[in-house]
Amino acid sequence: MDASKPMLVRDASLVDGRRHQDVLVQGGRIAAIGTRLAAPDGARVIEAGGMLLSPPFVDAHFHMDATLSHGLPRVNASGTLLEGIALWSELKPALTQRSLVERALQYCDWAVAKGLLAIRTHVDVCDDRLLAVEALLQVRKTVAPYLDLQLVAFPQDGLLRAPNALANLTRALDMGVDVVGGIPHFERTMADGAESVRVLCELAAARGLRVDMHCDETDDPLSRHIETLAFHTQRLGLHGRVTGSHLTSMHSMDNYYVGKLLPLMREAQVHAIANPLINITLQGRVDTYPKRRGMTRVPELMAAGINVAFGHDCVMDPWYSLGSADMLEVAQMGLHVAQMTSQAQMRACFDAVTVNPARLMGLAGYGIEVGNHADFVLLQARDPVEAIRLRANRLLVVRRGAIVASAPAATATLNLPGRPQSVDWTLRR
Ligand code: FE2
Repeated sequence: MDASKPMLVRDASLVDGRRHQDVLVQGGRIAAIGTRLAAPDGARVIEAGGMLLSPPFVDAHFHMDATLSHGLPRVNASGTLLEGIALWSELKPALTQRSLVERALQYCDWAVAKGLLAIRTHVDVCDDRLLAVEALLQVRKTVAPYLDLQLVAFPQDGLLRAPNALANLTRALDMGVDVVGGIPHFERTMADGAESVRVLCELAAARGLRVDMHCDETDDPLSRHIETLAFHTQRLGLHGRVTGSHLTSMHSMDNYYVGKLLPLMREAQVHAIANPLINITLQGRVDTYPKRRGMTRVPELMAAGINVAFGHDCVMDPWYSLGSADMLEVAQMGLHVAQMTSQAQMRACFDAVTVNPARLMGLAGYGIEVGNHADFVLLQARDPVEAIRLRANRLLVVRRGAIVASAPAATATLNLPGRPQSVDWTLRR
C-alpha cells in the first residue's frame, strides 16, 4: 500500500453517467475530477479504458461473528431461521477468540478483494463471556487501515427473553461497540417486543448512539414492531439515526396499513435494510403455494422517500451456506425479488449496495467527489446496470489512494473460425 504517490485514473465512467472522466488523487483524497487532467510528476497513471469507477461497496447488515462457520458443529438441515438460531446456540460454547478473529479476518480479505470496504456487523451479546465482542473489537482495529467496520450490540436470543442480555449489551457498548441492536419479534410476546424497542431506543438516545434492529423478520403480517421503532425514533428525536433491518413481515401486511406505516417511517427518517439472499431463502418456509417472496417492499419504501439498503446478512454460517462478500450478487438478487427491472430501478439497486448504506452508517468522506477519501473500485463494466448483470470483476480496489486489491480482466479465449480470438461480456457502445 503506497498512498504517498499521486494517482491519476484516466478515462473512467462514473455512476452518475459521466463518461471519459479523469480522477486525480493526492494525499489519500480526491483532488480533481475532469477531462484531460495532467498527471503530476511521479504519479501512478491508471488507464480505466471507459470502465466504471464506483465508490466502494458497503454492507450495512452482516454477522461477522458467525461468518465462515458453516458446518460447525453441523449444517442447518431444515434451512430455517429458527434452526439457524438453535444451531448458533450449539456453536457458541465452542467459540474461541482466536477462531472468531481468524474467520472474521478471512472474510475481510474476501470483502476487500470484492471492493467491499465498509461493513456494519451485528455481534451477539448473549454469551456472558462477550468473546465475540472482544474478537470483533480487535478485528475492527486491525482492519481499520483498509476497511471500516461498525459493530452493533445484538441480543440474538432476545433482550428480555435471554438472561443478562441487557447487562451484556450495556457492557458491550461500554467496551466500544458502536450501535444499539435488538430483535423485538424474537421476544416472548408482542408486548415484550414493543418494550424492548422502547428500552433500546432510550439507551441509544442517552448515549448518543445509532440504532439498528432486526425488526419483524417473520412472515406474520401482524408483526408491527417497525411502527413502534418509528414511534420511539420520532419521540426521542433520533431522526436519521435509526434503521429497521429485514422488515420482512411488511411483504404480508395489509395494504391499507402499509399506507399509514410508510409516512410514519419517513417522518422519523428511519432507514430500511432488506437482505435479499437471506429473505428469499428463509421466509415463506411454512407456505405451500402461492409461496411468498419474503422480502420487504423495497420499491414502495424507496418511492416513499425512505433510504433503503441491501445487506448480505450471512455468508457460510448457520443460516446460509453460500456467499462470497459480493455485494453485486446481493444487488442482483434484490433486483429480481423486488422485480425492479426498469433502468432507474436497476440503478437504485446499485445505490442500495453503495451510497444508501454509506448514508445510514454515517460514513464521512464517502463518494467520488472532490475532497472525499480516495476510496473506489474500478469495475469491468461500463455502467451500474452492467455491473449488476455481470457481477463485474473488480479490476482495482483503492483505499485512501493506495491499491489494496487487483484482479486481471475476465476474458475467455475463443477458437472459432472467422471470429475474434477473445471475448468479454461488456457491451460496447
Ligand atoms: Fe441479520
